[in-house]
Amino acid sequence: MRQREQWTSKIGFVLAAAGSAIGLGAIWKFPYMAGTNGGSVFVLLFIICTLAIGLPILLAEFVIGRRGQHDAVTSLKKLAPGKPWFFIGWMGLLSSFILLSFYSVVGGWILSYLARALFFRLDVADYGGLFNAIIANPGEVLIAQAVFMIMTIWIVQSGIRGGIERASRWMMPLLFIFFIVLAIRSLTLEGAMEGVRFLFVPDWSYLTGKTFLLALGQAFFSLSVGVTAMMTYASYLPKEEKLGQSAFNVSILNIFISLLAGIVIFPAVFALGQSPAEGPGLIFVVLPAIFNEIPFGGFFLILFFILLLFATLTSSISMLEIVVSTGIQKKLERRKTAAWVFGLLIFIVGIPSALSFGVLSDVKLPGGTFFDFADILTSRIGLPVGALLISIFAGFVLSTAETDDELRMKPFLNRAWKFIVRFIAPLAIIIIFIASFID
Ligand code: PFF
Repeated sequence: MRQREQWTSKIGFVLAAAGSAIGLGAIWKFPYMAGTNGGSVFVLLFIICTLAIGLPILLAEFVIGRRGQHDAVTSLKKLAPGKPWFFIGWMGLLSSFILLSFYSVVGGWILSYLARALFFRLDVADYGGLFNAIIANPGEVLIAQAVFMIMTIWIVQSGIRGGIERASRWMMPLLFIFFIVLAIRSLTLEGAMEGVRFLFVPDWSYLTGKTFLLALGQAFFSLSVGVTAMMTYASYLPKEEKLGQSAFNVSILNIFISLLAGIVIFPAVFALGQSPAEGPGLIFVVLPAIFNEIPFGGFFLILFFILLLFATLTSSISMLEIVVSTGIQKKLERRKTAAWVFGLLIFIVGIPSALSFGVLSDVKLPGGTFFDFADILTSRIGLPVGALLISIFAGFVLSTAETDDELRMKPFLNRAWKFIVRFIAPLAIIIIFIASFID
């Protein structure tokens, strides 16, 4: 077997992990989930879930991954020989497969906007109408989704991902700066304060088990937790890397970007008389309208969508990565073929999701369209269950000597983490799960 690669630098891993985490989850999904679930209460629950449950389980994935030094299935087999825990790896494969099948649809929407902005200009009067026209057009969404998948496969199979991650070193800060400028513009629109209130002044009637589960799912989704993606990335890590610090940084950054996205979107939503409960189209309808209020908006919109595409690709490659690395396990030479074969399968499975806003919009599955169903299967079931099992594994199957050896934090932090992954996180997930059904 070939010697396994390792991240060449400390920054390599942090960039890859942050790149996987920060993507459509924070920028596209967070605003629309907050918008359809009462704003502030969702925001609050999301922050609590990220820090109290997501962060410790992210750290658990790092610990397991680096201890195992292999793809998720092999690592889990190695750490718990003869036990069925490796099943978590196969579940992760399935979840990331389904995740990518609809994530790539949204990636395609970004490409559509980019292409239209480049070739036709985007300053139309009715952005809602434009969005609906795009997502209902079967040819356009499928081509865009296919192109997005090809980009993802290309990066995963051709070993240029190091370059992608290095580029994200300046792309991500640039995206950040953009967001801050947009936030200022959005906040200075007339009537913007209504949006700030929506985000930060709680309306407790939304405090339900269902909102809790949605916020928990959002925390896992946006941290890439529960599908063994982070476990896989951490398996390439050298021993010196401080796992606790990395998990903390990724979590805080993720909360920060999510909130920033909210601060860009909601003031504008209220100022421009749009609906916060617009759904998956929210950022696609609101962002162009904000750019319209900025000098050289057309040009900056293109730049912004390129950066957004980049952030999206650094997440999508991590999903395909788990599917490929788990699918081929030790047979490294099959990597290229596997990336194309799995990528094609994911695209095919994603077709009904892509068509969910047009020709298949009347087909109803549990929870809504194909797109909604794929989202529910992962965010409300696959990720929480995966995270629950990972937490229990790290808490009870790995010995304290093993986890301490990986964590190397201050003793009280080691103990606090152990207590959380053993009891707090699993119980919280189970209670939230049950509460969401009682609603
Ligand atoms: N965290 C990514 C995002 O917020 O866009 C989505 C994601 C990537 C989830 C990779 C799961 C995963 F394995």
